[in-house]
Amino acid sequence: MRIDWLARCVPQTEGLYPYVPGKPVETLLREKGLQRAIKLASNENPYGPSPLAIKAMQQAATEVHRYPDGDANALKEKLAAFHAVDRQQILIGNGSNEVLELLIRSFAGVGDEVVYAQRGFIVYALATQAAGASGIAVPEADGLTHDLDGMVDALSDRTKVVCIANPNNPTGTLLSNAVIQAFLDRLPRDVVVIIDEAYYDFVADELGDSVHVLQHPGLVISRTFSKAYGLAGCRIGYAVADAQIVALVNRFREPFNVSLLAQSAALAALDDGAWVKARVAETIAERDKLEAGLDALALLGGKSFANFVLLRHHQSAEILRRLEDQGIIPRPLAAYGMVDYLRISVGTAAENAVFLSALNRLMNGL
Ligand SMILES: Cc1ncc(COP(=O)(O)O)c(C=O)c1O
Repeated sequence: MRIDWLARCVPQTEGLYPYVPGKPVETLLREKGLQRAIKLASNENPYGPSPLAIKAMQQAATEVHRYPDGDANALKEKLAAFHAVDRQQILIGNGSNEVLELLIRSFAGVGDEVVYAQRGFIVYALATQAAGASGIAVPEADGLTHDLDGMVDALSDRTKVVCIANPNNPTGTLLSNAVIQAFLDRLPRDVVVIIDEAYYDFVADELGDSVHVLQHPGLVISRTFSKAYGLAGCRIGYAVADAQIVALVNRFREPFNVSLLAQSAALAALDDGAWVKARVAETIAERDKLEAGLDALALLGGKSFANFVLLRHHQSAEILRRLEDQGIIPRPLAAYGMVDYLRISVGTAAENAVFLSALNRLMNGL
């Protein structure tokens, strides 16, 4: 039976669709009757979490009959020291996804506008619509890179939030902090600007210390433990912003939004900086190999600065199907209007080699 009053209760759900994640390994195994599959669809760290984080979670497992620290005090202290900021400037979320949603919900509502790139991370559009605000999606000038002039032109007196992922997912493009600062200088002081640095660790050397370099009263820099830190399954991310912004957003946050295991793992992972650095170096070396392999097949969709690469071909749907037949899961990008593209997360050296040889074989028959 159709419950037709549901849409009337929450009108902004009209046209709102749930986020579609990368296909889980188990789903592909079931669909194709395979024994093994390689997931290259969600930009995870393929090496697993740091051994210190695993140990911390094992220890914390004996404590989960207690609620976690609702204010994540120890983690805030540690992140504050890590970034050389005040602890009041740290907002912790159940993944940086929650941080993004909380920020958009806190600052934008019915009648307000949120500006982002057309091929920006899709959660900005979903969170904006869920908040009842209007999303202004600005097309990329060259198909992949943020059009910052276009984003300035898109501002109106209803603009409350601007979102930029740097590097961007799914296009992989990077803006320098000098370019971002020049953009920030053109914005009204009362606009909240989220610089989403989920992939920061892969560009730390080129980008520099954004937290201290970028200046804007409403600036929020979000980071995650899901990518380089290998804790995607824990769901933990955070933002650094002015303490007044953090205090306001905290009013919207649910009491125990970050689990005990996630807090323990993140604390330990921060102590294992050398491990993270080594995994990032391996990922970048592997990314370069993947890009060279795609280039050799004339399939490279653009230069990526994150832990994924872009494949471009007019038969991308067929390539996707054939890769899945061989137990390899890439990410289709039709949801971003990028129908010719597949996004391939950088896996381990062995996984990438399997992917490249499967791709070579199937391109011969295409
Ligand atoms: C640009 C960007 N921001 C944020 C996220 C959310 O990550 P998480 O919620 O796991 O921290 C992702 C995940 O893929 C992303 O690509």
